[in-house]
Amino acid sequence: MEISQTRDVFTPTKPARIAFVERDSVNNKLVNSLTTPGKQIVVYGHSGTGKTTLLANKLTQLYERHITTRCMKGLKFEQLLLDAFDQLSPFYTLEKQAVIKTSSGVDIGASYNAIQANISLNSATDKSEKHTRLLPPQLTAQALGRFLGAQQACWVLEDFHKIDETEKAQLSQLMKVFMDLSDEYPELKIIALGAVDTARQVVDYDHEMRNRVAEVHVALMTEAEIASIILKGESALNVQFNPEIKRLVVRHSNGLASVCHHLCLNMCNAAGLTETAGGAPVILTQEHCEHAIKTYVDEASDSIKSAFDKALKVRRKTQYENASLILEAVSALAEGGAARTDIYNRIRRAETKYPEANLKYLLPKLCTLEYGGILRYDSNSGLYSFSDPIYRAYALAQFQKRSTPSSANSQSDFEQTLLRLLTAKINSDTGSEIKITINRITTKRQ
Ligand SMILES: Nc1ncnc2c1ncn2[C@@H]1O[C@H](COP(=O)(O)OP(=O)(O)O)[C@@H](O)[C@H]1O
Ligand SMILES: [Mg+2]
Repeated sequence: MEISQTRDVFTPTKPARIAFVERDSVNNKLVNSLTTPGKQIVVYGHSGTGKTTLLANKLTQLYERHITTRCMKGLKFEQLLLDAFDQLSPFYTLEKQAVIKTSSGVDIGASYNAIQANISLNSATDKSEKHTRLLPPQLTAQALGRFLGAQQACWVLEDFHKIDETEKAQLSQLMKVFMDLSDEYPELKIIALGAVDTARQVVDYDHEMRNRVAEVHVALMTEAEIASIILKGESALNVQFNPEIKRLVVRHSNGLASVCHHLCLNMCNAAGLTETAGGAPVILTQEHCEHAIKTYVDEASDSIKSAFDKALKVRRKTQYENASLILEAVSALAEGGAARTDIYNRIRRAETKYPEANLKYLLPKLCTLEYGGILRYDSNSGLYSFSDPIYRAYALAQFQKRSTPSSANSQSDFEQTLLRLLTAKINSDTGSEIKITINRITTKRQ
């Protein structure tokens, strides 16, 4: 049996490889687009649905090589080009001898090295302290396309939605250039990934490019897909989760594979398992599960709290505790999400005069990172839900303190453990919060 490390099988924070599960709903479309010369690709869908992982696995299966540029807010388009150019450097310095020529007879390696020399020359004479690198005029979109194409590489732009609108427009132009070069370099293409609702929010390309850009939507994982992750993990590590635990982990992951990876990894850790078990399979029990949830809550609690702080922060004086009311309503409704009208009706049960405008205003905001990104909106179903199941549990625990826990008996062991641990956490945190508030007041008076 092949020995694997548990952390390489259950991968909550990196792309899954060993426990990678094929995504049947998008696989064909993505593979076809990847193998169609000149086809540019936009992969989109909520954060955590598995875009990066899917692409990483497909590229390993299908592509000679690819380079990846991670996008950040404020990054200029020129820096993107330079980053791609830099990443090609090992291929051109290693293969100096092998002369690659374009159809018109230009030596690509030589022109790569010429531009590289030009860049280092510019940076060397740059006396300002900040090391700004200028894009040399020779490094055109065309030139970059040839450098990539000659290495049979495609270019992946991770989190392209973070780039400013003004810079984004240039990508559409670049895609056009790459399409035109595909005759000569069939592998050349750009794959832009974005955690957004529509492909157009990633790249707003021209109408005429419509048929040459594939839009691949990666949805949340289905329960069957999540269950397959556990199965793959079981066989890679020679472990067995009790069926009840499996069912709970699947249900509570709520479409997010990272939650499943996290809980399974924690359970292995609780059992002291760091790699594939030798001999008889290791059985993972309820006790390991409870331990795993505790670790999960401990690890997540800081980021949960900071997300809720952002959501609940009072930004202007209003009659209602809007964010609280909304989150409480969403937590009381179905786990899979609720439409705005359902949320509205739910709030009105307690606050009969609650203005709908408040909800209309704040609900989309609660999906943004500025407000903690606690909720997400699915444009296909029209439903709002918690973006991570642990947020829902936290909201339930938080708001349960106010209301009577009437539905407690319908909750599973998992939920009860989660709620119990989160409630304990909240209570201990509230203690420290009060102290902070008192401190502030005292300082004000002085
Ligand atoms: N097809 C898959 N099979 C197994 N695990 C997956 C799969 N897709 C994603 N994951 C896991 O889910 C988490 C989030 O995936 P990621 O690719 O980073 O999502 P995204 O890029 O959409 O935000 C990671 O922990 C990853 O290992
Ligand atoms: Mg990603």
